[in-house]
Amino acid sequence: MPEFTINGEKRDVDVPPDMPLLWMLRDLLGMTGTKFGCGIAQCGACTVHLDGVAVRSCQLPVGRVGNRAITTIEGVGNTPAGAKIQKAWIDLEVIQCGYCQPGQIMSAAALLTGNPAPDDADIDAAMAGNLCRCGTYVRIREGIKHAARS
Ligand code: FES
Ligand code: FES
Repeated sequence: MPEFTINGEKRDVDVPPDMPLLWMLRDLLGMTGTKFGCGIAQCGACTVHLDGVAVRSCQLPVGRVGNRAITTIEGVGNTPAGAKIQKAWIDLEVIQCGYCQPGQIMSAAALLTGNPAPDDADIDAAMAGNLCRCGTYVRIREGIKHAARS
């Protein structure tokens, strides 16, 4: 049975290698914080981290995860950047309906980990793949800057 490291915990999961990581997280492990949006790597709702790098879990077969550590929205608050982003999201009331926001937070946390002081162009480039039907883009940008200053 394949073993995964998810939010710092070892998990043995009886999963076929071609199952998308998103399905394993939500349907087999009940970790429903990571959202299904488009299923074709176009919206960012399903974003998680592999060794700190943002990836679209809807299009990633679990057989390609290897021994990389998986971090989801349920665990990203335990990372320095994730904690800052989550606090900024609360301080600035970034969220509207919330559906896209786990993915937004995961992409923002990955950005801040690699670039502690991103400018507008950096933010636009890192967040371009995360869509928000509620149009919270301005608050997301401010939230990332707020987190970077904190
Ligand atoms: S659900 Fe994965 S990118 Fe949309
Ligand atoms: S907050 Fe509603 S889709 Fe982004």
